[in-house]
Amino acid sequence: MKFFIDTADVNEIRDLAATGLVDGVTTNPSLVAKTGKDFIATVREIAKIVPGPVSAEVTATDHATMLKEGHKLAKIAKNIAVKVPLTPDGLKTCKALSGDGIMVNVTLCFSAAQAILAAKAGAAFISPFVGRLDDIAADGMGLIREIVAIYKAYPGIRTEVLVASVRGPLHVVEAAKMGAHVATLPPSVLRQMFAHPLTDKGLAAFLADWKKTGQSILGAEDGAAKAAE
Ligand code: G3P
Repeated sequence: MKFFIDTADVNEIRDLAATGLVDGVTTNPSLVAKTGKDFIATVREIAKIVPGPVSAEVTATDHATMLKEGHKLAKIAKNIAVKVPLTPDGLKTCKALSGDGIMVNVTLCFSAAQAILAAKAGAAFISPFVGRLDDIAADGMGLIREIVAIYKAYPGIRTEVLVASVRGPLHVVEAAKMGAHVATLPPSVLRQMFAHPLTDKGLAAFLADWKKTGQSILGAEDGAAKAAE
C-alpha cells in the first residue's frame, strides 16, 4: 500500500519524507489556504521533495478553465497529478488531461457510481472521502470496499483507489485489508501509526537490561575474532 501525505505544509512533508515511507503528497485548496503561502511555489517545492505523485487541485468549475489550469499545474513538474472535482466538467477535464498523458486525481468522491465514472474518464486516482462520510453517519469504509471490488472485476481499469479524508490508523488498516492502493494521511495519522505503548515499554526494558551488561556495540571488540588470534 502506498502512503501519500495529505498536507501542503512543506516542513511537515520534508520531515516525514525523511522516514522513506512517503510515496506522494495530496493537497487541496483548504490545505493550501491553511499555509498562507503561494500555491504554485508551494507545489513546486513539494514536487522537488517527494518524487512520487503530488496532487494539485484546479479551482475553476467550468471545463475550459479547468483544462487551462490543469495544463498549467502539470507543467510545474513531471510528478504533478492534477486534481479535479467529481463533476461533469471535472470528468470531462479528467478525460482530456489523461488523454494528454497527465496524471489526474478525481476528488470529492462519495459514491461507487461516481468512482465508476472516474475510471471511465481515465483517472489515475479516485479519492473517496471516508471521514466525511463517517461524519454524516454513512459507511466510509464500506464505500472503499465497494470501489475496490468493482475495479477488481475489470482488470482493464488502471485507476488506483486513493483513500482520502482519513481520520486515524484504523481507517488505514481497514483500507489495507480491502486492498486499496493508496491512503493519503494527515501527518498526525502517519505519526500515530508508529506508536504502540508495548513498543515503548519493551524498548525501555531491553535498554535497561543492555545497560547492565556494560557493553557497547560500536565500542566493542569482536570476542570470537580476538580468541582466534
Ligand atoms: O485532500 C482530501 C481529503 O483528504 C480531505 O480530508 O479531513 O478535510 O475531510 P478532510
